[in-house]
Amino acid sequence: MKKRIVVLLLVFVLLGVIIGLLVRCSEPSPENRDASSSGKRIEALIDKMTLEEKVGQMTQITLSHLLRQDEEGVKEPFELDTARLRKAVVDHHVGSILNNGGHANSLAKWHTIISQIQEMAMDETRLGIPVIYGIDAIHGANYTQDATLFPQQIAQAATWNPEIVREAASITAYETRASGIPWNFSPVLGLGREPAWPRFWETFGEDVHLAKTLGRAMVKGYQGDQLTSDSTRVAACMKHYIGYSVPRTGKDRTPAWIPERQLRQYFLPPFAEAVDAGVKTVMINSGDVNGIPAHSSSFLLKDLLREEMNFEGLVVSDWMDIRYLHTRHKIAATQKEAVKMAVNAGVDMSMVPDNYRFFDHLVALVREGKVSEQRINDAVRNILEVKMDLGLYEKPVTHYENYPKFASEEFSRANLEAAREAITLLKNKGNNLPLDKNTRVLVTGPTANSMTALNGGWSYTWQGLETDRFIEEHHTVLEAIEAKAGAANVMYAAGSGFEEDKNLRAAYQKAQQADHIILCLGENAYCETPGNINDLYLPESQQKLARRMAATGKPVTLVLVEGRPRLISNFEPQMDAVVMGYLPGNRGGDAIADVLFGDVNPSGKLPFTYPRHPNSLEIYDHKSTETNGPQHGLGYNPQYSFGHGLSYTTFQYSDIRLSDSTMAEDGRIDVEVEVTNTGNRAGKETVMMFLRDHYASVTPPVRKLKDYQKVALEAGESRKVQFQIRPQDITFVGRDNRWIREEGKFSVMIAGRQATFVFNKSQS
Ligand code: BGC
Repeated sequence: MKKRIVVLLLVFVLLGVIIGLLVRCSEPSPENRDASSSGKRIEALIDKMTLEEKVGQMTQITLSHLLRQDEEGVKEPFELDTARLRKAVVDHHVGSILNNGGHANSLAKWHTIISQIQEMAMDETRLGIPVIYGIDAIHGANYTQDATLFPQQIAQAATWNPEIVREAASITAYETRASGIPWNFSPVLGLGREPAWPRFWETFGEDVHLAKTLGRAMVKGYQGDQLTSDSTRVAACMKHYIGYSVPRTGKDRTPAWIPERQLRQYFLPPFAEAVDAGVKTVMINSGDVNGIPAHSSSFLLKDLLREEMNFEGLVVSDWMDIRYLHTRHKIAATQKEAVKMAVNAGVDMSMVPDNYRFFDHLVALVREGKVSEQRINDAVRNILEVKMDLGLYEKPVTHYENYPKFASEEFSRANLEAAREAITLLKNKGNNLPLDKNTRVLVTGPTANSMTALNGGWSYTWQGLETDRFIEEHHTVLEAIEAKAGAANVMYAAGSGFEEDKNLRAAYQKAQQADHIILCLGENAYCETPGNINDLYLPESQQKLARRMAATGKPVTLVLVEGRPRLISNFEPQMDAVVMGYLPGNRGGDAIADVLFGDVNPSGKLPFTYPRHPNSLEIYDHKSTETNGPQHGLGYNPQYSFGHGLSYTTFQYSDIRLSDSTMAEDGRIDVEVEVTNTGNRAGKETVMMFLRDHYASVTPPVRKLKDYQKVALEAGESRKVQFQIRPQDITFVGRDNRWIREEGKFSVMIAGRQATFVFNKSQS
């Protein structure tokens, strides 16, 4: 009898399994599912969801809050606390989790974490909706041990090479997905027009066109063309929308004042371009613009983002930023009021990140009729769509074993290539560089022997200060120089700390025995508010070291490893050469050594204006009134201008040829210039085309970048480079804040040459 019961039970279990499998198989595969069927699926889900389930989807919690804790915080090694996870995912139906728990994890650890989360979300909740995990993988999968860490965004911008940016993003997506994570809070599309801002290096620099083109390349690299069926891709998140990057004080998360004309002309286009490229998500600016915190602005979140730019994706808040409407910005008298403001303004998901008050308040607000159920449904729809677009229902967990190229030699080579193209030679008096490998060099300064400095923030930890602990095999600048020139030719002295004096005398003494001094100055890692500064000059201790090295009478090459242009004007004239390394990532030391010793011909160009004086921060596309007084060193007179970057070869430009001297409303002008490598080694040159509007009803900038192309030329080789100008290229935001174009004279400017044409609407 007993035996029979057991057999019967077994048959039932087996039947259950078969039925389960059949149900799973009948789910449409991502390839077959068209937009409308996924739309129907989402609507069906929304119909079934309770209010709590919907609000849970809108709630994002940080990983640390879900890990085992003791009195000191998260317990090492990290482990999910099942009770905490259940409270989030089952009791509060949380739709999203973010961050790294404190520091980078191994692939295996990530796999365990993500699997546990998804198992609970899919098996223990009524509707089995997968969680979307998000992370800041801003220069590689920087929270995964051993991942490929690329140059930071500002350095990628210095390559002026969209293909390099696309490739780096595509590798980052692969390694992020290998870590089980499908959502990346990148790229930053704010413009770097405020050099003191501690997130300057997270931008593509000061120019609109450069940020537009590289932002598009990055979004494409992250998302690919077929997000759903490609589990090597991640959803991108353009951030921080909008105006975050130009705080008036230069300090992080302080107010910005941006007239609407400027907002539209400069700050919106990179975001609009990313929307056009299909970006799936957006993160909101933590600060306020013109007195209105972005998280509460229906003008920014509805009128501009949804109505004008037609963004259809998911809007996520930044860290605690709904709460901050109450506690920091003081526009909401209570936290509940803050939730109402933000959700009604258009925020779909709150990066809470460490409690359930957002959840409680929002449920109450809907019940009280202060937030409509329709608004909630819209937000949930946006969230579920991204989950579906990512194929998370079909594949909630990816396994690192299916990502054999993770941290591969191939990826490392791509990384090195990116760093090599970023390094920018700013000065080379008397062709001091490249150095002969037999030169006896002294390497000194705080950034000489530090992987932490090369990578900057968002590297293994948020502030990036523990990088040296995570890296064994990569080279600092010193190690790369030793590997290249032979340890016997290389001396080292710390010389100075980042902010404090070190043994200056030892450096001075060693310098006596050197033929050349490689002086590595700059910044230690930082990001966000902890990176605020009061003084743009490099700290005094570093200036002292520079002056002391110059006093030896030996030639000095200054290598800058820094996230923003720290002023060097009070000792730069004594430097023989200056190499800008930015934050070049894990292969940055090698790339800098390659440039110093001539194995690579530098081709990086500054993506921003390097200022000379702290109170003269004019940028390249300033108005002509800002140029006043250059004869006295006043007005626009930067240390190095936007687009500047030298090579070990020389390039000569022909005159600019225009296909026509007039352009009509339906017309077009073809521009051609011939570039010749007149030196004796191969090199890469970025050909930049600027336009100047001679007269306009709104004061025009002295020039504006319209297009660029990077070309590789062998010694002696010439190349014709072509651009096109169309009427939309001469538009600007007029007096009524709308895009217009006006008739008149325009100059095309390429490498110091000019040609003019006239725009005449009526001419056929
Ligand atoms: C930053 C965002 C980031 C978020 C999540 C915030 O502090 O401003 O850029 O994506 O944290 O880590």
